[in-house]
Order: sequence, then structure tokens, then C-alpha cells
Amino acid sequence: MTEFPGVSPMPAHATGTIPWLGSGAGLLRHPTGFFERQRAKHGDTFVCDALGYRLFCVFSPMGVRALYEVPEEIASFGLATFELVMKRKLPIELAMGRRNRPHDLFKNPNVETYLGHLEDAVALEIDELGNRGTFEAFAESKRLGYRMGLASWAGAESVRPENLARLIPAFDRLDTSDAFVKPLSTLYSVATKKRREWQAMAKIEAVISEILSARRANDSAPGDFLDTIEASFSDLPVPERDVQVARDLMVLQMGAQSNLYAALAWTLVHLLLHPPLLAQVRDGDDELLERCAFESIRLRQRSITLRRVMKPMEVETETGAFTLQPGVFLTTMLSVTNPTAAEGFDRFDPAHYTGRKLANEASLDGRERVSTFGHGRHSCPARRFSISAIRIAIRRLLDRYELEPGFATAAPARRQIGGVARAAAPCPVHFRARTV
Ligand code: HEM
Repeated sequence: MTEFPGVSPMPAHATGTIPWLGSGAGLLRHPTGFFERQRAKHGDTFVCDALGYRLFCVFSPMGVRALYEVPEEIASFGLATFELVMKRKLPIELAMGRRNRPHDLFKNPNVETYLGHLEDAVALEIDELGNRGTFEAFAESKRLGYRMGLASWAGAESVRPENLARLIPAFDRLDTSDAFVKPLSTLYSVATKKRREWQAMAKIEAVISEILSARRANDSAPGDFLDTIEASFSDLPVPERDVQVARDLMVLQMGAQSNLYAALAWTLVHLLLHPPLLAQVRDGDDELLERCAFESIRLRQRSITLRRVMKPMEVETETGAFTLQPGVFLTTMLSVTNPTAAEGFDRFDPAHYTGRKLANEASLDGRERVSTFGHGRHSCPARRFSISAIRIAIRRLLDRYELEPGFATAAPARRQIGGVARAAAPCPVHFRARTV
């Protein structure tokens, strides 16, 4: 019998027939549908035991606000991510000794230099695409996402064709976005002592070490983030220094991967499905383009937002006050709250945003129930970077090409839990160079 950490008083309780699996089968099959059904049955506050974890689920304004407000030492974002995602998939050594967190990177006063790297990265990709052809929106956005991310923090050398060809498969191997969704793949990682992941890390370390060695040999210091990251490890001897630089870059790139490319892909897909909006954006309306990006993220968010309780804590929701014991996961899911927080929020409409802010936010019952980049202390440090990356990529694609969708509709993949949705079916896009 699985012993779950306590919740008192116990609210409505979603259980399954197999004790350890609990509600896990339903949760893994269609997470959004699962939470929607439980919410319809039990209301906005309930407990769900799944895959050996106890989730205290909140969907009401008070409950969701409480989740975002809880201090890290009482209920931890970092440990929730580590326990449910990183620990099962990645070597612990990757998490140890990190010195440059995304927060440091995006707080850096030189941060605006990334805009130049983003432009260069998109230009290179467009050169490779050529004059006409067909790409799949998510596959192409993934490539663009790699190019833009790596060019911004791993040096311009990292996106040269010979390096990109080695880095992309290795980073794909480290991708944690499946860790919760594909328990068998994660079990395989554990059973093989994460051999595949160690090999991928070694490949990335080798590429970064080559780049850093060439820079040292040529006395070259272009003043980019790779330089900054290397300087922060200058107390370590080479080659250990290069290994640690590469691991900082891996953690950064993995943070970017789980959301950025899918957000870019949905922005493109929604524009292609709404020709009047596409025409306006093509005519140069960058403000509308950014609103389309926010709206695409809002509508396609699949993030399960988790905090692992560290010390006994009280949560007050509209249903009452509850004490949660350490080990419980305070949980909400954005794909349930975002489309239901207000009338019409189940549809794509960039008018839901004014500039980079949700329109009529003050009149919403619980502003935290709508989230694109999160709220409070753990909100995304890369919000500005990500919106700029999406704007630049789509602007350059539209400047260069006529784009035609080879699909009539697009829907999120049902099984996904965490991050921005991938599509349920391929979204082919036909492109040909514009003649202007
Ligand atoms: C469109 C792209 C992105 C979206 C929609 C997005 C979304 C989010 C959300 C919703 C959270 C809050 C999670 C929570 O409260 O549990 C978050 C946090 C975070 N994101 Fe992003 N993100 C994006 C891009 C990126 C990129 C490019 C990076 C890194 C290079 C990044 C790094 C992080 C980090 C490190 C945190 C945790 C912050 C903390 O611990 O305080 N994100 N992101």
C-alpha cells in the first residue's frame, strides 16, 4: 500500500483502481482532459494520487494565487522540477556546480546583444532553406529555436553547420519534456544508468571545448555570453573549465527548448490560419505580431505548474483551509485555467492582449488563472528574449517568403503535460521566395 503524505482535512479525492498508478493512467493518456473531468466532478480543489505522487490540485482564483505566492522554502519550484523531471532522466552531475543561471544571463546589461545574434541565426537558416519548398512548422521552429538559442549563449561558432549537426541530436537526447509523459523511456534511462544521456553530454562538452580552445589559441574574446560564462569558471583548470561551461550551457538550452520553439510554431500556425491577421503582420505590424505570440502561448500552454511542499503549510481556497504535509505537490495546469478564465478565452484572438499585457486583466476573477510566462517569483526570466525571438523569426520569414499552409486546422497533442503544446498532426507549410 503506497503511503501518501497527509492533507487535512481531505478534500474530494480522485483515485484509481491500482494503488501506485492511482489516477496515473488517465493523467498520462490525456492530462488536460483528465484534469477537466476531475474538476467538473470534484470542483476547484481536490487531491489526486498518481504514479506514486500526491497532487493537491487548485484551479480557483484563491487556490492558484496561493500556489504562485508560496515562498520557495515552504513549497519548492526547483525541487518539484528536479524530482519529477530532471532526477528521472538526467545525471545529477549536470545539476551540480552551475554558476550561470538563466536569471543571470537575462539580467546581464549586455542582454540586448542577443537581438543581433537572433537576426544572424534566422538569416543563416533562411539561407539554408533556399527559394522554395515545404517545411513542417514544428520541425522548422525547432531548428530555428536551436539556432537562435545557441547563437545567443554558446557563441556564433556553435551554429556553424558542422557544429549544429553534432549539437542538435545531442540536445534532443537530453530533452526532458518527455520525462513525465513517457515513463518507459525514463525507466530505460534509469536502467542503463543514463548512459545515453552521459554520451550526449560528452558530445556537447567536446564541441564547446573545441570552440573555447580555438578562441584561446587565437586570443579571441568577442565579449559574448560564452566569454562571460567561461570567465565565471576561470578559477578551474582546462579541461575541467570547459566541461563546466558546457554544462551551464546545457541547462540554459534545455530551459529554452521546452517552450520556445513550440511557441514560435503556434504563432506561425495561427497566423497562417487567420489570413487577415497575416496580411496585417506582413504589412509591418510588429505590435500585432507580438500579441499573436502571447495569445498563441496562452491558448497552447500545457504547463503543469508544481510546487513540492517542504514544510507543513496551510493553503486557503474557496473550499476551505487545508494543511499540506511535506512531499505533497501543490499543482495546477495551465491548459485547464487559461481557456476558462473568461468568456471567449477558449478561442484564438490577439485582442485578448493590449501590447504585452492581458487586456482587462483587472476585471478578471483571479489574474493568476491566466498564465503565459508564469507569475511571481518563479515567472520566466526569458520572457522578453522569447517574444523578441518569435517576432524576429516570423518577421524575417514573412519578409523573405510567401507562405501557404498545407493544413486546414491544428490541435495540440493530447498526451502532452508540461511546456507549450506540440501539434497532434504535422503542419506542413509551403514556401517560395517573394518577388518584390
Ligand atoms: C515562449 C517561451 C517560454 C515560455 C512560454 C516559458 C514559460 C515559463 C513559465 C510558465 C515559467 C514558470 C513556471 C512555474 O511557475 O512553475 C517559466 C519559468 C522559467 N523559464 Fe521559461 N518559458 C519560455 C522560454 C524560456 C527560455 C528561452 C528559457 C531559458 C533560456 C527559460 C527559462 C526559464 C527558467 C529558468 C524558469 C524558472 C524561473 C525560476 O526558477 O524562478 N524559459 N517559463
